[in-house]
Amino acid sequence: MCSILGLSSYHDVAPTLVKSLKKMEYRGYDSVGVAIKNESDISVRKGIGKVNAVNDNLHMSELSGHTGIGHTRWATHGKVTAENAHPHMCNTDSIGVVHNGIIENYVELRQDLEKNHGIIFKSSTDTEVIPNLLQIHLEKSHDVKRAIMDTVQKLKGHYAFVALFKTGELVGVRNHEPLILGISSNDLLLTSDVVGLPENISSVIYLENNQFVIIDKHKHEIFDFDGEVAQFVVKTIPKNYQNITKGSYAYFTEKEIFEQPKTILVAGEENDYDLKKIVEFIRDSDYVYVTGSGTSYHIAVIAKYLFSRFAEKKVEHVMASEMKYSSRYIIPNSTLFAISQSGESADILESVSIGKKKNAKILSMINSKNSALARDSISSIGLNCGPEIGVAATKSFTSQMAILYKIADKLCDGCLAIDFKIVSDAYTKMLSNTSKIQELAKSIKHIENLFVIGRGIHYPIAKEGALKIKEITYIHAEGIAGGELKHGPLALMDSSTYVIVINPDDDSYVDNASSVNEIKSRDAKVIGISNKPDPNYDYWIQIPTIREDLYPLIEIIPLQLISYYLALERGIDPDYPKNLAKSVTVK
Ligand code: AGP
Ligand code: GLU
Repeated sequence: MCSILGLSSYHDVAPTLVKSLKKMEYRGYDSVGVAIKNESDISVRKGIGKVNAVNDNLHMSELSGHTGIGHTRWATHGKVTAENAHPHMCNTDSIGVVHNGIIENYVELRQDLEKNHGIIFKSSTDTEVIPNLLQIHLEKSHDVKRAIMDTVQKLKGHYAFVALFKTGELVGVRNHEPLILGISSNDLLLTSDVVGLPENISSVIYLENNQFVIIDKHKHEIFDFDGEVAQFVVKTIPKNYQNITKGSYAYFTEKEIFEQPKTILVAGEENDYDLKKIVEFIRDSDYVYVTGSGTSYHIAVIAKYLFSRFAEKKVEHVMASEMKYSSRYIIPNSTLFAISQSGESADILESVSIGKKKNAKILSMINSKNSALARDSISSIGLNCGPEIGVAATKSFTSQMAILYKIADKLCDGCLAIDFKIVSDAYTKMLSNTSKIQELAKSIKHIENLFVIGRGIHYPIAKEGALKIKEITYIHAEGIAGGELKHGPLALMDSSTYVIVINPDDDSYVDNASSVNEIKSRDAKVIGISNKPDPNYDYWIQIPTIREDLYPLIEIIPLQLISYYLALERGIDPDYPKNLAKSVTVK
């Protein structure tokens, strides 16, 4: 969702803020803005579009002043307009705010502020109530700390915000949305994400829920919402999170797809101890629920197939956003295994809090070991695939899957014995010649619908392939279990329809042959992803022949490549698809 930033320095802060906003814009990219405190007041520059375009137009980075705030927006309340872009100022222009999240009671707060305090609102966001409440409370108490405490008492919802006061203070507030304080000898930086840290800052404090920090004259103090001084731990951020570049690749999505021969080899390798702990908890529990959203939910579905087949463990997958509707069935001595690349998805954090209430043991698989989800879990395992910037999850998906295989292997006392070098070599082979997929993308770039079918464990891979296609090509795509074709989707097949069939030579092959015939009989076109040719394929995307149970790990690669090259053919920036953001921190 949005990225929020605040910086207090001995130097001009605008250039650093704009640089950090650029690094964090994958969190939200419909509009951008900064507010900088100078000698006499606060200057605001904001506009619609991506960071570089707005900066070229408005010269945000040229503002001078040693304290400032910045924002990239992913709109939840109010259209994408310059007025609705953050920062938002209070009516007296003495306090500016950038905000991530939703103020659920903003309508009533707004009405009260209009009626009883004569506040005139300039935007249609939920955010604008915050600087006005701060200003009204500050006028009463003349104390920034008191004004924060009084303001958060009024706000309902999940949010984090950074406020800049004309008097020089910078305040960061966290309530269920991420906020991190970065510390160096010259700078104090508030950020939603460690990716926003400048290179000179590697020491950080993760604010906990219901805490706020006041930064004044290069000092910081952290309090809880009752005003008590809070305890904190200073952590060090690994270097690879601070200087993320595309290298020689055109897009982060391309880089991340092509990194997979390496990332698959190190999945979950950070700490073998975590893997063992997770296996122990799963082994000892009577029931395992696996939850996630989007791509991470597909991993939950794969977990069901893998754990039941190889570990004979009964697993139920629950979409994180659906957890509250099925939580009644969480039985005693259950484990809730939460999967999330970011570890910050609001739906997943909510499903975990529901699981906790039912006394389920919380385990997690995340890419950031310091994320909210990791902190909420009794045991968690890191993907170890490095930062993923492209909105479409690619390398994190294969790393998640590899870790599932490792867990299943331990649960069945080594029955799988996988050599991931074989998988890595298969990736290298598929990625070293993509010309056939590029040709395919060119020839189907105008289609409006695409179906992806797979059976058994290949069904969640079909769903994942369809999600990639939807997200970055804007083509309507559906992942379907092969056997379900005849129960409805066949009605949609005609000569303009394309169907990708995930068809490795395993126990699903024979049944898939029937599906292919059913599709061909309706004149639809078949794109076969298989290690075996078939005269029924209009296009054959060859995958290497590999040990039968490893096909799910490799057949996703052509699907990622088809999505990526289709996005390019259709003139879409795959890193920043419309209406989406990398970590979805609102419900
Ligand atoms: C994946 O390509 C999507 N961008 C999205 O579905 C994502 O997987 C989902 O929002 C969950 O994110 P998380 O893994 O960071 O929790
Ligand atoms: N609710 C705020 C807005 O729409 C912030 C949105 C967000 O965090 O994504 O501007």
